[in-house]
Amino acid sequence: MSQRTFSIIKPDAVRKGYTAAILAAIEKAGFKIVTIKRMSISTAQAEGFYHVHAARPFFGELTRFMSSGPIFPMVLEKDKAIADLRLLMGATDPAKADEGTIRKQFASSIGENAIHGSDAEETAAFEIGYFFAGIELQ
Ligand code: CMP
Repeated sequence: MSQRTFSIIKPDAVRKGYTAAILAAIEKAGFKIVTIKRMSISTAQAEGFYHVHAARPFFGELTRFMSSGPIFPMVLEKDKAIADLRLLMGATDPAKADEGTIRKQFASSIGENAIHGSDAEETAAFEIGYFFAGIELQ
């Protein structure tokens, strides 16, 4: 059964001109891009998005980075979308990511790691609702 997940092409990948290559990898892996937009977010908006990480030592670095330039939030759909996107992204730390994954190819560090993907159904629902209105999700 088809499932939806949420993803962001992060500011490092957008700055380096990797947006189209990352979208091509996502489509080649069988995901339908349900909706996508280009936008910038404030540090406060990044803090709201990553609230579950508020106690982590890297929270300030993470939220400053995510508000440092344009991003592409999107909603993706396929069978097992959440698990399959995480496989396609590779490990959070690109040094540990498998060959052929998005982070292995396009990310430079654990902080600047090119792409975000939801880790569970509940987080996907929160993250989709954080960036998109229902009318954008048909
Ligand atoms: P993401 O999947 O967007 O979810 C949380 C993010 O925190 C993660 O990707 C990383 O980019 C970031 N992160 C995790 N660990 C660290 C770290 N040690 N230093 C900086 N950023 C980190």
